[in-house]
Amino acid sequence: MRLPPRLVLCGRVARAAREIRDSAERRRYLVHMLTSVLRTVSALGVVAALLATPTACEWMQNPPPAPPAPPQGPLGKPRLLRGMNLGNALEAPNEGDWGVVLDDADFPRVREAGFDHVRLPVSFSAHASLSPPYTIDESFFARVDWAIAHALASDLAIIVDLHNYDELMKHPEANAARFVALWTQVARRYRHMPEAVCFELLNEPHGDLTAERWNTLLASALHVVRANNPTRTVIVEGVDWASAKNLRDTLRIPDDPALVASFHMYQPILFTHQGAPWMNPEFQTTGIGFPGPPAAPVAPVPAAASMSWVREWFDRYNREPTATNPSGPSAVVEQLEMAKSFADARHMPVYMGEFAAIDNADLGSRVKWTRMTRQEAERRGFGWAYWDDGGSFKAYDRKGGDWVPELLAALRH
Ligand code: BGC
Repeated sequence: MRLPPRLVLCGRVARAAREIRDSAERRRYLVHMLTSVLRTVSALGVVAALLATPTACEWMQNPPPAPPAPPQGPLGKPRLLRGMNLGNALEAPNEGDWGVVLDDADFPRVREAGFDHVRLPVSFSAHASLSPPYTIDESFFARVDWAIAHALASDLAIIVDLHNYDELMKHPEANAARFVALWTQVARRYRHMPEAVCFELLNEPHGDLTAERWNTLLASALHVVRANNPTRTVIVEGVDWASAKNLRDTLRIPDDPALVASFHMYQPILFTHQGAPWMNPEFQTTGIGFPGPPAAPVAPVPAAASMSWVREWFDRYNREPTATNPSGPSAVVEQLEMAKSFADARHMPVYMGEFAAIDNADLGSRVKWTRMTRQEAERRGFGWAYWDDGGSFKAYDRKGGDWVPELLAALRH
């Protein structure tokens, strides 16, 4: 339909007016946008700069940039040379039950004291359902995430150590599937973590978890870990509480290039665990020094004297010269030599994941034992972690933030 010229003109004027209005609005809109962008740019200069680069998207999609990598050994692995256990916290039934709650400041403090890693004992089994699929509590997992993030941010490697699965030690068959399911979940959750995050399959296998059972079970757990963590460092140890003897004699190591073999060193145990309340009566004699012999003979408590191995130990402790004394250097060297013969035979890295002497012993003896054990381990090429339990073995007081200076020195020089 053709419109009369006046109406055409009116229509054009109206359209022109609309266009002018629209373009004015568009301009105002553009000006508004530009202003707010400029405001954002000036307020968030760093973000704007990142957005302007192709890597910005990656940065926005992924977590913030990783902290500097921890010291790497061959194959890009963390070296795990000198470490601290963060004990009595996440391996307690609930964090805090045993007097230790981890704190942000723990991680930089350990790093600043010269350590390159932490070992984090974690009782996953105390925070997982008892029936399939044995789900680990999300809030507990989040706490482990927190510890990992803080270790990495402090340039520390971290060992996630499955600790205190007592039911597995008592009823290995009944708990085998649950143990593997725990590792399935842990491995999946941390599969994208840097190599500085390491796994330790099980702390101190013992009890009815015999060498034969453990060798089979560890292979199953390793299998699920390797499904999505093909190159991550995984630490394994032998039965009888991670003894050096069982490392050498009974641990069957799967063919795997990223395994580290571990042992714990608490010998002579009558010295390192003297008077420990969780130990049997034969360990309750205190006043044992290192190295022996003592200035005056030490008589074992009656419960200890009734056991022949303890009686003989005290006889020798009271009279043998230091070189052969059972609370002397030979007792330490004997253990480390067992681990060394394993390392030589298997050409595998060996790690001493726990060692410490309780504070019922005099400080001078603890310091001598700690320094000697640490030096002898290093001489044989073993990395180590001191058993800092936040309690009677501790080298530093997490609450006060104070190191026991003599023990710290023994670990350093
Ligand atoms: C145990 C601790 C114990 C320490 C020394 C650790 O593996 O979990 O409870 O204090 O060994 O006996």
